[in-house]
Amino acid sequence: MSLLDTLGLRLPIFQGPMTGSDTPQLAAAVSAAGGLGQLGCGMRSPAAMREAAAAVRAATDRPFSLNLFVQDTPAPDAATVQAAQERLAPLYAAFGQQPATPARWCEDFAAQFDTLVELRPAVASFTFGILTAQQVERLHGAGCFVIGTATTVAEALAWADVGADAVVASGLEAGGHRATFLGDADASMVGTMALVPACVDALRIPVIAAGGIMDGRGIAAARALGAQAVQMGTAFLACPESAIGPAYRAALARAQATDTRTTRAITGRHARGIVNTLMRHTDAQVDQVPAYPVQNALTGALRRVAAEAGNADYLALWAGQGVAAARAVPAGELVALLEREWRDASKNIAASA
Ligand SMILES: Cc1cc2nc3c(=O)[nH]c(=O)nc-3n(C[C@H](O)[C@H](O)[C@H](O)COP(=O)(O)O)c2cc1C
Repeated sequence: MSLLDTLGLRLPIFQGPMTGSDTPQLAAAVSAAGGLGQLGCGMRSPAAMREAAAAVRAATDRPFSLNLFVQDTPAPDAATVQAAQERLAPLYAAFGQQPATPARWCEDFAAQFDTLVELRPAVASFTFGILTAQQVERLHGAGCFVIGTATTVAEALAWADVGADAVVASGLEAGGHRATFLGDADASMVGTMALVPACVDALRIPVIAAGGIMDGRGIAAARALGAQAVQMGTAFLACPESAIGPAYRAALARAQATDTRTTRAITGRHARGIVNTLMRHTDAQVDQVPAYPVQNALTGALRRVAAEAGNADYLALWAGQGVAAARAVPAGELVALLEREWRDASKNIAASA
């Protein structure tokens, strides 16, 4: 059975989960329009996960997905934390503040995972790491379709080996964090055009293409490469239902492909975003930056205060290389537009063959 039939979806369009930037309204609008809405729960507590899932369910009875970061809670030594805080102090000083040690470095993955099983979304998707076969079994027992994210064929095969039902193949064009969990981060910078067909050839489970897909032509191209669906983040970030504030929205509206870079300096994990003061400053010290989630937590308060001040210079402006093609229209309208464009592009390809 095809991916769309299995999930009961009308369209091969997944709204990418976007921790901190998606909302139940965004996910519900995409699901109601025939795609798959997703909630990035990487930084949502179990209570916040329950609240967000209930809000989607109140708005639509269509399938949706909850997404988690596969992560361990770190125990950094005090000297590492202090040195990182000293490096960030000049940035905090711009807002009259000092870096503080957060109450916790990240959410407790085991508690989030239990909540996911309890909430039984139609789809459970993951990034940053890989589940065990037992964890996948538990999700299957709860009736969830399990999707892992991969940036290389080796990672896609690893997800298939633990029993995932499908894999998101995420090319280097993609906005936000890289999902890389095996091997070298630089070597894992494979473009969508190269990664998707390689994963399709290597796997017997469906592949979902992600990275740089902004319109119906991109959907047709991904399907021609063998992907059964696409996952689009940056395109949906510009929708009014996303959670981003006015400063981020304005930066997104101005940005060109050449304005984005990947860096591990803001959070300790490679991610693609629009270059700004925060990226330039932290990048200059990238070799000393502690790994995710420690650096993420240490820059978190700075990013929150910058958001409150409407100052885009100190935000993490995650966005993909397709950013210039983002359209600030309501999510339901965007899905309808993407469907029309995809059907037109498919007809044009057929007519020219
Ligand atoms: C702001 C932002 C936050 C993201 N957060 C997550 C996340 O929490 N979990 C995840 O699996 N992917 C996350 N992603 C990746 C998207 O779900 C999607 O795969 C990616 O954006 C696709 O590439 P595109 O931006 O070129 O469309 C995020 C992307 C962005 C832009």
